[in-house]
Amino acid sequence: MIPDKTLVEKDVYHAAPEVVQGAHVPNFQKYKELYSQSIEKPEEFWGKLAKEFYWKTPKTDKFLDYNFDHTKGKIFIRWMEGATTNICYNLLDRNVHEKKLGDKVAYYWEGNDPEDCMQVTYKELLQQVCKFANVLRAQGVKKGDRISIYMPMIIELVVVMLACARIGAIHSIVFAGFSADSVCERILDSHCSLLITTDGFYRGDKPINLKQIADEALRKCRERNFSVGKCIVVKHLGVTEATGATDETCTDRASSNTQSPPAKRSCYNLQITWNADVDIWWHDLMKEASDKCEPEWCDSEDPLFILYTSGSTGKPKGVQHTVGGYLLYTATTFKYVFDYKPDDVYWCTADIGWITGHSYLAYGPLANGATSVMFEGIPTYPNVSRLWEIIDKYKVTTFYTAPTAIRLLMKYGEDPVKKFSRASLKILGTVGEPINPEAWLWYYNVVGNRKCPIMDTFWQTETGGHMMTPLPAAIPLKPGSATFPFFGVLPAILNESGEELEGEAEGYLVFKKPWPSIMRTIYGNHQRFESTYFKKFPGYFVTGDGCKRDKDGYYWITGRIDDMLNVSGHLLSTAEVESALIEHAAVVEAATVSHPHPIKGECLYCFVTLRDGHEFNETLIAELKDQVREKIGPIATPDYIQNAPGLPKTRSGKIMRRILRQIARNEKDLGDTSTLADGTVIEELFNNRCRTA
Ligand code: WTA
Repeated sequence: MIPDKTLVEKDVYHAAPEVVQGAHVPNFQKYKELYSQSIEKPEEFWGKLAKEFYWKTPKTDKFLDYNFDHTKGKIFIRWMEGATTNICYNLLDRNVHEKKLGDKVAYYWEGNDPEDCMQVTYKELLQQVCKFANVLRAQGVKKGDRISIYMPMIIELVVVMLACARIGAIHSIVFAGFSADSVCERILDSHCSLLITTDGFYRGDKPINLKQIADEALRKCRERNFSVGKCIVVKHLGVTEATGATDETCTDRASSNTQSPPAKRSCYNLQITWNADVDIWWHDLMKEASDKCEPEWCDSEDPLFILYTSGSTGKPKGVQHTVGGYLLYTATTFKYVFDYKPDDVYWCTADIGWITGHSYLAYGPLANGATSVMFEGIPTYPNVSRLWEIIDKYKVTTFYTAPTAIRLLMKYGEDPVKKFSRASLKILGTVGEPINPEAWLWYYNVVGNRKCPIMDTFWQTETGGHMMTPLPAAIPLKPGSATFPFFGVLPAILNESGEELEGEAEGYLVFKKPWPSIMRTIYGNHQRFESTYFKKFPGYFVTGDGCKRDKDGYYWITGRIDDMLNVSGHLLSTAEVESALIEHAAVVEAATVSHPHPIKGECLYCFVTLRDGHEFNETLIAELKDQVREKIGPIATPDYIQNAPGLPKTRSGKIMRRILRQIARNEKDLGDTSTLADGTVIEELFNNRCRTA
């Protein structure tokens, strides 16, 4: 797997000397050495890294225990079981007290509106977290309780998650773009005892009444006989509950009563309803709370959080991560993949509602004592230079974003980028979906001025941290390849019969050994965990992604090979979208496939079969789109809906999505159709095609 020396040619990008200088892993040889150690002696390798953190009771005996083979018994993974620590203590107290980083900025917060910004130091963050941890305890929250969090990208979101971690409560963050149904479903699945939300926020110039959606979610929970105890509401936009008028106290928030300059906040007019039995204002609770709070000492294997991700049956899976392994792995990947140095200013544009935000906007950077930018807004508001302006404003050195954002901004050409110098940038990163070489080159040439290596990081909610990724100085880059495995990661490519393929090959991407931050279970459904990830190929963790290895040993992720779709880097399952469509009275059957999209990467193309007596027209299409938005959220809105009087099926009744994908693309060569039960539907489906972009 050593890249051939002659690869300095076209299409392979080597690190510039300034990237190599002082790098944690300066060359490929060093990467190989460390990688071999991590695979041959994982306990020693990770044991050494674990010593950088505080353990109340350190690990003395078996560091790792696991079973990946369901034919030999229950699947389990345990890293450092028996050792105790607190992740919040490691992220905050250790940095403030031991490392003396109290006055270092933890976050520069940049609001939706450019003039709306503030900063929070490590010391201030610790105080706020302790206060809110005390609030949670006063509300009766105990270790192991599940707390639902439905908030936009504001500092309080980090405060809440770390406060949960401090007292051993399990946070379940729901992305603020999800619908009331989605919030309700997630609250019910893990029986959350408390909901923490926000009055509202702006996405660009669009106001979002988050409290109203949260109210709706709680109403839906009550209809299904479940009530959360309380709903704590952060006043972010500054509304009053009675009239909905703007409120002079809108700067009276967590971070503005710290020593940082008070935040300049815009106040907007937003109407929210208030249910005094359930709702409590955050600032009322925080006023009295003490800023000293003893952490709960947790076992390394205690659950840290649940994060829901789409599942192929349509029901989201509550991916559960644990304290010790997750701390170790997110901290280590952050340090090496972004070649972190203490003076860096790091910016990850992902929302904390996704795993990227959890691992690389909260836990990973804070574990390293890093300074991060947290951005509430969107790349195109108030104009399409916003990201580059922010990079110059905070002198960002390390910028981590999604291919979909790059493709979106590419559309506007180079001028909006070149208005700003971006001189501070050293390292770029991408995550969420395969990056097409065209976007990679634009990112490299235009954004990074040909001097910043791009870390194309492949990983999943389930893996907790980066799996296949370059390292800035050590691994020459090929546009579109996630290159090589990170330390401790042992990938393999399998064929359909489960045989490992060597050398140049293409097949299922699997992992043969556990790494510290692998998910431990699906909340409340260990069996589903075993069958989803371990059943198909005993002894391997199955990612659900296809993968190619080239002649130089580089890995290229080819995309999902299960019933999953990746829209703008967000995973959705076909089943989830189909069940939302079928709930409409006019629809008897639905099938969803992915369709290429110039910006989103993939978009949804849906086929619906109508009940007798219903007409397929624009009104129905609009209703169906609304239906999906309401059931799942705006990210799942289908781009295309086509009328399908019949669907192509096998004789056993399974919908042949492969054929539907070809129809959506107007590709007449359908391959092998011998298993198709009734070929006559095909022509009509071609005739009814939507005109696609
Ligand atoms: C896809 C996001 C290609 C992949 C961290 C994976 C990628 C799914 C990449 C997980 C990448 C993520 N190259 N594909 N660099 N990163 N993916 O759980 O299909 O939201 O299985 O985690 O995104 O999405 P998830």
